[in-house]
Amino acid sequence: MNKIELQTLADEILFHIRKKPRKIFEILRLAIKFGVETDEVIRATKVLKKWGYGVRLNKNELTFLSPTDALSSTEILYYLKTKIIGKPMASFKSLKSTNDLASQMAAGCTGEGEVITSEKQTLGRGRLGRSWHSPEKVGAYVSIILRPKMSPDKAPGLSIMTALAAAETFEKYCPGKVKIKWPNDILLGNRKVAGVLTELFTKQNKINYVVVGIGININQKQTDFPQTIRKLATSLRQVSGKKINRAELTAEFLEHFEKEYKSYPKSQLGGSLKRIRAYSSLLGQTITLKTGDKSLTGQAIDIDRTGALIVEVDGEKVTVSGGEVTVVKRP
Ligand code: BTN
Repeated sequence: MNKIELQTLADEILFHIRKKPRKIFEILRLAIKFGVETDEVIRATKVLKKWGYGVRLNKNELTFLSPTDALSSTEILYYLKTKIIGKPMASFKSLKSTNDLASQMAAGCTGEGEVITSEKQTLGRGRLGRSWHSPEKVGAYVSIILRPKMSPDKAPGLSIMTALAAAETFEKYCPGKVKIKWPNDILLGNRKVAGVLTELFTKQNKINYVVVGIGININQKQTDFPQTIRKLATSLRQVSGKKINRAELTAEFLEHFEKEYKSYPKSQLGGSLKRIRAYSSLLGQTITLKTGDKSLTGQAIDIDRTGALIVEVDGEKVTVSGGEVTVVKRP
């Protein structure tokens, strides 16, 4: 059995034992089930150990002790209960950027809902040409390929829809502390815990595909962040006080995402506006919004069903669909 065959066997055994409530398996029975020699089951068990699973070989038995902390597709799929989003899913140990790979795949013929995840990114990208700090073992870097049947002008609202899905996921871990900073940041208190990067690709004025990427700070300690963002960033672990299972959280996020996305091509944010408004950190605040070299200051008064922010400037309502916001502190 070569390395690839052995890894495939390890994956198959894992899939089988991961979904059974019992924890002890007879090696001979596993060998019969997968049509291989018992020696090969033993070799595959060693592969599972290398992947970080707690597994013990004892005489004729294999005992499953604990899941791996890795952000692998097997682990995410173990928790995932979606129909389209994440079916299928491809997980990598290291990528330059999950958005870049998703985009390359979508330019081929990859269908709607495929998810790409990576344990780390070497060139993680943020909005406005910024980078996204993407170290291994502590975060989640996830991109979703979408092919919505709607006009391209409806795509910008997907960012805040994704932020809502993330906010509702994080609520379980940090109740009452989650905020959405329009258009694409998720905050705990006033520090950023996750960011969304939505990229739209059109063909003859129609949506060819959209890649929605999210980076989530899950188990970082404050010192894990580079100095430049240490005062601005936080993680779910820091605020909840608990180490979080990254695969489980990623699956929960994808489930929330699927629920929100189902009605989006037809009615955009119609069904979710109330919740978005409730999470918003900006509504009612005086803000300065920069788009390119233009800047305006006014009061953020609403978010509409396309995801645009409505700002009152000198008594007039201005609708803006993107930009960078800073809250103006009252003297
Ligand atoms: C931002 O806040 O500026 C957006 C950050 C988006 C980061 C994610 S991580 C997964 C995906 N791949 C990337 O290169 N970027 C997004």
